[in-house]
Amino acid sequence: MGNIISKPRGTVDLFGISADRYQDLVLTLDRAARCYGALPIAVPTFEESKLFKRGVGESTDIVNKETFDLAPKGDHSYTLRPEFTAGITRAVIENKLYASPDLPLKFYYSGSAFRYERPQAGRLREFHQWGVEFLDADLDLSTTAEAIALMVDQAKMLGIKPQLKINYLGSAASRARYRAALVDYFEPHIDAMCEDCRHRLKTNPLRILDCKVIADHPLVEQAPAITDFLDHEDQESYHRLLAILEALGIEYLSDNRLVRGLDYYTGVVFELCDESQPELGALGGGGRYDGLMKTLGGPEFAGVGFSFGLERLLLALADAGEKTPGLDLLLLDLSRGAEERELAVIKHDLRLRGLRVAAANCHKALGGALKMADRLKARFFLFKDESGYHLKDLSSREQHELGTELLIEKLLVLIGGKNA
Ligand code: HAM
Repeated sequence: MGNIISKPRGTVDLFGISADRYQDLVLTLDRAARCYGALPIAVPTFEESKLFKRGVGESTDIVNKETFDLAPKGDHSYTLRPEFTAGITRAVIENKLYASPDLPLKFYYSGSAFRYERPQAGRLREFHQWGVEFLDADLDLSTTAEAIALMVDQAKMLGIKPQLKINYLGSAASRARYRAALVDYFEPHIDAMCEDCRHRLKTNPLRILDCKVIADHPLVEQAPAITDFLDHEDQESYHRLLAILEALGIEYLSDNRLVRGLDYYTGVVFELCDESQPELGALGGGGRYDGLMKTLGGPEFAGVGFSFGLERLLLALADAGEKTPGLDLLLLDLSRGAEERELAVIKHDLRLRGLRVAAANCHKALGGALKMADRLKARFFLFKDESGYHLKDLSSREQHELGTELLIEKLLVLIGGKNA
């Protein structure tokens, strides 16, 4: 083997137990979203670059430094999606989904997203998100609370102790007042701050609050808080939303430094961490985005949503691997292929009944196949020799001699029905 080609930095190959855990995770999250009346949506992996520039925002790190831009084709410039919210909002406008009589629209999704970041644990260049977007012309607070409740429910369902941080960015008018106050506060010190912050002071001073440079932290900690600039209406909405969360028994931590890295947020923003593993960073985040649809050329329509980072969730669940279900049955044909038709029918029949069935290569020795059954966490092992079929219960080690008469029926009785 010469000249092996490696995967690009910041990407992963998923196989074996991690691929299994990934799929299980997506299924669990999907199921929970269905309980909230959400339906699946899928949008393209690449979009016109201007969608993200306008949607996510030109002053964000994501658009400024991290996009994967494809070589232009004709008059079009395309970018691999760095997130889903802009693409889904585009799809709602383009397909006139906003005209549905059944509002709010509720979507869930999962797939890869791309950001050219410095790779490290939990930070990849191609990563996967699972999320929801709820949209309505007049999106009520109870639907907004549902997005937060779903995120917290899902974390708990997975065995994570959620720490929910929440903040309120307010209306455009409150934010403009806050922005002016931040500029007044940071301007006298800006020469001592990092290069990114100098740039952010002009483009989006709120993002200074998100600065990762330790030397800038003392100044950031003393900065004015957004909650002091909310108008009466904003304050009332925020309190009503928090009251719903409290009624749902959802614990939260108010964090008036939480601004999130995307420009489209208005109103509430939130992030969820694993309380016992805060070093993993945000497992997911989201918020309300009431102006995005208009910015992208659609009608006045509000939205709220969140996305989990699936790789981060998997890291948080690192010890949950043993829960992955194995096989119901591993089969070995000691006739070495002479009975291939009969065995093909047996496997097929059992699979049609919802059982997880695999076969070892028919040249494998009995001992080797038993070890394989163990590695694949099979519950039962079935082998065929000249005397008939033998079924071994791998937990009790009991063996049943089955002959060929009514074999499927006997197997179903012993193994159990669907997903036993
Ligand atoms: P975000 O905070 O940029 O929000 O990303 C959501 C989650 O994706 C993060 O909390 C993190 O777990 C994961 N993530 C982000 N970047 C990376 C990376 N480079 N490697 C691994 N995981 C990563 C959004 O994307 C918004 N669209 C969420 C939203 C939906 N807001 C409203 N609706």
